[in-house]
Amino acid sequence: MFDNNRKTILVTGCAGFIGSNFVPYFLEKYSKYNIVNLDLLTYAGNLDNLKECENNPRYKFIKGDICNRELVEFIFNEYDIQGVIHFAAESHVDNSIKNPAVFVQTNVTGTFTLVDVAYKHWMEKPFVYKERFLVDSSHSFRMTDSGHPELSSRHPEQS
Ligand SMILES: NC(=O)c1ccc[n+]([C@@H]2O[C@H](COP(=O)([O-])OP(=O)(O)OC[C@H]3O[C@@H](n4cnc5c(N)ncnc54)[C@H](O)[C@@H]3O)[C@@H](O)[C@H]2O)c1
Repeated sequence: MFDNNRKTILVTGCAGFIGSNFVPYFLEKYSKYNIVNLDLLTYAGNLDNLKECENNPRYKFIKGDICNRELVEFIFNEYDIQGVIHFAAESHVDNSIKNPAVFVQTNVTGTFTLVDVAYKHWMEKPFVYKERFLVDSSHSFRMTDSGHPELSSRHPEQS
């Protein structure tokens, strides 16, 4: 558990290429947020890429599969997750030719599991949660001129 009143977001696949660049940037820029990193640590994930974050009190790593509904539900309940940024994926195209099933499992079933758990979790909450799901799920990140990601239509510190 985090010991403060900050909002907590679930970021999946942080040990991969994009996530491991995103997390240190986000933690530094958005001080009112905690991050829970859910990553299975497949061949593509390497926690060494997140060494600079491991002692940050606003960061928590959980090793696990986004397809594991019980685990995802536990994380939503335990940390009162208020947003999800989803990087966990099978992303190496060469491997999709040799073993396509794991791509469908992670990229389709895993993504569905996250969205479905989030939807059910937030719909049981007060209106502000429902509004956030309906509004934010139609927004996306854009890259700024300096090459950093930023919410395209609403700044997270304003929500
Ligand atoms: N890298 C790029 O240039 C690029 C460009 C555009 C879009 N994308 C997309 O962004 C996303 C992330 O890309 P990346 O390059 O960081 O990928 P990556 O392969 O480097 O990392 C994927 C991460 O997901 C984790 N993971 C895999 N299966 C998992 C599962 N079932 N449960 C939990 N964690 C799991 C891996 O351990 C790894 O840490 C992908 O959807 C990719 O298609 C990437």
